[in-house]
Amino acid sequence: MNNLEAVRQKSGINGEYKELLFPLPKKLIFKEEKIIKSLFNNFIESEMTFDLSDEQLTIFLNTLDIKIFRDEIDKILSNNNSPNISKLLQNIVDEIESIKSYGFKNNKRIYIGYNKERKVKDRKAKEANRNQYYYANSNNFPIINNTLPKEYENSIICGDSYEVLKKLPDNCIDLVFTSPPYNFGLDYEANEDAHHWDKYFSKLFEIFSECIRVVKYGGRIVVNIQPLFSDYIPSHHIISNFFISNKMIWKGEILWEKNNYNCKYTAWGSWKSPSNPYLKYTWEFVEIFSKGTLKKEGQQDKADITADEFKKWVVAKWSIAPERNMKSFNHPAMFPEELATRVIKLFSFENDIILDPFNGAGTTTFIARRFNRKYLGIDIAKEYCDIANNRMSSTFF
Ligand SMILES: C[S@@+](CC[C@H](N)C(=O)[O-])C[C@H]1O[C@@H](n2cnc3c(N)ncnc32)[C@H](O)[C@@H]1O
Repeated sequence: MNNLEAVRQKSGINGEYKELLFPLPKKLIFKEEKIIKSLFNNFIESEMTFDLSDEQLTIFLNTLDIKIFRDEIDKILSNNNSPNISKLLQNIVDEIESIKSYGFKNNKRIYIGYNKERKVKDRKAKEANRNQYYYANSNNFPIINNTLPKEYENSIICGDSYEVLKKLPDNCIDLVFTSPPYNFGLDYEANEDAHHWDKYFSKLFEIFSECIRVVKYGGRIVVNIQPLFSDYIPSHHIISNFFISNKMIWKGEILWEKNNYNCKYTAWGSWKSPSNPYLKYTWEFVEIFSKGTLKKEGQQDKADITADEFKKWVVAKWSIAPERNMKSFNHPAMFPEELATRVIKLFSFENDIILDPFNGAGTTTFIARRFNRKYLGIDIAKEYCDIANNRMSSTFF
């Protein structure tokens, strides 16, 4: 339960309100508390109400005659000698006055229902007219889903993903979550990471085409990618374009903020000149695609994401530190367990089958197992498959 829900429950507040929160640097003394309480008691519950604790004042705002409110505050300020209270009241007025007007009713400003007012009329008809995800409509995806053959279930396979995936039936995977090699020139075992971009993308798309084929109708493909900005290659756009040209629905994009401000790349381009400044990034991208339909079949009792996780993770900017443990897995480009956890819990149900065709040290498969999903991981390098297998056989998860 978040702080505001807890405050609402504690004080029995259940109307529709806009909540404003004012942390208190120190607990109010009795006299100060009395001032605050008498101010809010001038207003009826359908206008505003409040909750006061030792640490914070929460105001629940519905409609308010801001002039009357300001007059009340001015009255208090003219007789008040507590700097604490003056500052708090000034903050409250400033904050309330900074909220945009959502309309007026009987001289009172309305502070709730903004979305309702802006709601598009005849939304459904307009959506139909615009033809939502028009680029993916005329697909030929088979609708019947298949089961993954038993020999692939919960396994790590060493091989070229294209060759391995070719052996799987259509529509047998619920979620693909992966991060392909980025072509940055990293030191991988067994495979080079600095191809001509043409060659890189054609190899990648061969494997992604197989991913599209094996993912179920209603299944998802989620790709974590970092463009090579210094080559001016927008890999996230090129990859998204590939998926949408192949009739996958673009479900969205998550910005994975790594807060990696001390990135090793120190070039600034044209220092202090607009001639050619070099932009720096502290984040990576996570692109999400659905096959055939946005809605995934699944039993609600197999959804294991909590309400708090759901509320937090549907806001598509995730602040997660990069994986710090790569040395101990001897892999140069792992993503963190937290990233895999969020993707797997937000986009799949328990018991679903999760595939990572670039499984590396096995983060996806490890997290899939932790959350009671079935998994299939593929990597071309034997050393990484061994590491992933060791990780899977550890009892510590
Ligand atoms: C960015 S890493 C993935 C790391 C992984 N997400 C993790 O957390 O450990 C990409 C992986 O793709 C593998 N790879 C490259 N080409 C491949 C191919 N054709 N088939 C299968 N794996 C491949 C590399 O060996 C490397 O381990």
